[in-house]
Amino acid sequence: MSVEHRRLAPGLRVSRVLNGLWQVADAERDGTELDPEAAARALEAHVEAGFDTFDAADHYGSAEIIAGTLARRREGVRVLTKWVPSPGASSRAEVEAAVDRALRRIGVERIDLLQFHAWNYADPSWLDCLFHLADLKAEGKILHLGVTNLDAVHLDMALHSGIPLVCNQVCYSLLDRRPATTMAEVCRTHGVQMLAYGTLAGGLLSDRWLGRPAPPINDALTWSQMKYRRFVNQAGGWDRFQEVLRAARRVADRLGVSIANVAGRYVLEQPCVAGVIVGARPGGRSYLEDNLRLFDFALDGDALAELDGAAARLDPIPGDCGDEYRRPPYLTAAGDLRHHVDRFPAPYPVRHGSDGRARVSSGTMWEDVAGFSRAVRSGNRIWIAGTTATHGTRLIGGDDAGAQTHFAIDKVEGALNSLGAGLGDVVRTRLYIRDVADWEAVARAHGHRFREVLPANTLIRTGLVGEGYRVEIEAEAEVRASPE
Ligand SMILES: NC(=O)c1ccc[n+]([C@@H]2O[C@H](COP(=O)([O-])OP(=O)(O)OC[C@H]3O[C@@H](n4cnc5c(N)ncnc54)[C@H](OP(=O)(O)O)[C@@H]3O)[C@@H](O)[C@H]2O)c1
Repeated sequence: MSVEHRRLAPGLRVSRVLNGLWQVADAERDGTELDPEAAARALEAHVEAGFDTFDAADHYGSAEIIAGTLARRREGVRVLTKWVPSPGASSRAEVEAAVDRALRRIGVERIDLLQFHAWNYADPSWLDCLFHLADLKAEGKILHLGVTNLDAVHLDMALHSGIPLVCNQVCYSLLDRRPATTMAEVCRTHGVQMLAYGTLAGGLLSDRWLGRPAPPINDALTWSQMKYRRFVNQAGGWDRFQEVLRAARRVADRLGVSIANVAGRYVLEQPCVAGVIVGARPGGRSYLEDNLRLFDFALDGDALAELDGAAARLDPIPGDCGDEYRRPPYLTAAGDLRHHVDRFPAPYPVRHGSDGRARVSSGTMWEDVAGFSRAVRSGNRIWIAGTTATHGTRLIGGDDAGAQTHFAIDKVEGALNSLGAGLGDVVRTRLYIRDVADWEAVARAHGHRFREVLPANTLIRTGLVGEGYRVEIEAEAEVRASPE
């Protein structure tokens, strides 16, 4: 039995079971750091067995230091990490400082894979961070760039904008099959792969929980179990989850393997999945022998159909990948963002005029030159200027009409948010397209964002100013809640 490997990108082969080190932060939750030498020694058996790739992050306690220590002890260890900055703008110097910190902590001159997390798409700073990271990649500090928890729309947008992403780390399991549709399609189209986490739902998707009563969500659970207990509740509750465990057990019985094996293999066999990241707790229970069996069997069509059928009887986790970090219900260990974010700054600066109106600038040079605001609020009414996919001097979304439309709507949302409103307040939109062939992509993007808002809308074919722009959007909003 040998551990399968997959080429994630040129020069980067990863074991298809990666060792996840969020569990280090959990082990350190009382504020006591693990001894990096002892923790690295405890993880050596994983490398020995062939699980040579580790997934760390800037906020996983001393995970980067432990993985770096291990990489110095053992040949061939690959350390992937993440940068999860606070929402809002980061200068080029701040981005570089974050990368330098990871380099120092891991103890390498180049990071194998840096995965970026975006909190708020309505704030275009997330794209600035990625462009800065792409520069640092070109300068050699990063071998490859990835993202984590990006939804399909924004992964597609970033790729169309020329950001060289090779993978997206997302939650994917029998309990959460959000990546199976649009995300898989975007990955296939762009040749990007997924790294899947949560495949064992923190261990809940294993024999240990078959037939057991539901554990209450409290500090007696690991952070990971707390997180995925919330997924279970969202998916219809513990009894329905038990039906999935029973189906996995039936398949496991036929194959002579464990439920965890079936759950892991199910995700490994999905299109565009490079590997599954399984939490590894230094010095904790060892699952090496069991996890090695993942490479000793396959799920045939009948087994996959039985598992798909059982998973389909759960309620789908709402939204797209990563939404659990962006809007309620927050499916995090704490059930909110208190471990992650203090505040969300306004995406764009607001100027309050002596005329009682508030005006937003989105920083394009034409707002100054032509004398207009991105948005103006007077009382409970907001008017948004004709908005294209410009950000600074860049065109976001490349020549893809759908991606441009989504970014223009993100700007509209950012302007509204800056004025204390949201997309839900929009009562009117006008879409201007240059090329009639784009109408459907533009209409679909509008539908994706406004399907619950249903503003009055007009789609007009016309000439547009500016090379490469395929769509321009105007909007009007009426704020129903209390004014600013
Ligand atoms: N990007 C993100 O937002 C994000 C979010 C979450 C996780 N992650 C990544 O994914 C990694 C995985 O974490 P996760 O929270 O999703 O957990 P998970 O991999 O679904 O579950 C891991 C837990 O399952 C248990 N386990 C492992 N192998 C087993 C087996 N063969 N049989 C039975 N139980 C087994 C262990 O529990 P015990 O340790 O309790 O014994 C282990 O800690 C993290 O470390 C991190 O790298 C990323």
